[in-house]
Amino acid sequence: MRILLTGKNGQVGFELQRALAPLGTVIAVERSECDLESETSLRNAIRGAEPDIIVNPAAYTAVDRAESEVARAHAINAVAPGIIGTEAARRGALVVHYSTDYVFDGAASGWYDEQDAPNPQGVYGESKLAGEKSLAASGARHLIFRTSWVFGVHGANFAKTMLRLAAERDELKIVADQIGAPTSAALIADVTAHAIRKIQSDRNGSPDGIYHLAAGGETSWHAYARHIIETARRAGLPIRVAADAILPIATAEYPTPACRPANSRLNTAKLQKTFGLILPHWQRGLDHVLQQITRG
Ligand SMILES: NC(=O)c1ccc[n+]([C@@H]2O[C@H](COP(=O)([O-])OP(=O)(O)OC[C@H]3O[C@@H](n4cnc5c(N)ncnc54)[C@H](OP(=O)(O)O)[C@@H]3O)[C@@H](O)[C@H]2O)c1
Repeated sequence: MRILLTGKNGQVGFELQRALAPLGTVIAVERSECDLESETSLRNAIRGAEPDIIVNPAAYTAVDRAESEVARAHAINAVAPGIIGTEAARRGALVVHYSTDYVFDGAASGWYDEQDAPNPQGVYGESKLAGEKSLAASGARHLIFRTSWVFGVHGANFAKTMLRLAAERDELKIVADQIGAPTSAALIADVTAHAIRKIQSDRNGSPDGIYHLAAGGETSWHAYARHIIETARRAGLPIRVAADAILPIATAEYPTPACRPANSRLNTAKLQKTFGLILPHWQRGLDHVLQQITRG
């Protein structure tokens, strides 16, 4: 089995290099070898790789910058998944793609199901929703995993930013009225590999479409930051900020170019049932990543 993996240096792409390796020949490419902003580059990379499966974690993920780079975000997140889909459909290849909690407005009080109506509040969410639709319309067999609050050892993320700021500052103010589930890139990669294996062995049993893929439990950015910082303090990392100086604030007190959903909770029951998986609590994945970071 030949697997083309885009965005190999992103958080999820990096972990996918490891998780996909036992499944077959992984052709892992970065932007210089397969630029999602260029239709020619993208089609050439796919045709050259002759894949049976295309796994596409590459994306325009700068949520705030997307508000002023609308065309780029749209080309990479909305148009490219459709091109990948048309190439895959020609070859009979499966596409695995990733989307986001930001397709929702966050106004619901419970957990978002796959059939809940999206209503993105910003350019990034709009572009990712358009990408889901362009891939679905391509006619390719596909899985779309919507995930949330991704972190990992490799790449930039909230957890690493908190560790840096906690070492530099006497006080931190963190948004406490947005809730979701921090999800490790390793978990996303491992679930992807499991789903591919299941779909290959059981062609009729695992239907195409959208699945919510997030770690178990829920937290706020503020409680998440406290957990990161206190774990690092116990591990002996240089932490300057005192525990009682990590202050909760409202979203309104931290204005950003893009609106973010207040409720990012994704119901993962469909994925767990379809693929026979349990999604562990977010602290499990986080503590594992923090151990790797703190032990250098
Ligand atoms: N991060 C989150 O919190 C989060 C939350 C929900 C959903 N998601 C989704 O999860 C998936 C993986 O996210 P992630 O956190 O792994 O993202 P990431 O760490 O930001 O990595 C994105 C990757 O995409 C590549 N890329 C960007 N533009 C490209 C282009 N024009 N052509 C080719 N490659 C390009 C980047 O390459 P360079 O290294 O060259 O920039 C990078 O390797 C994405 O679909 C994202 O929308 C992420």
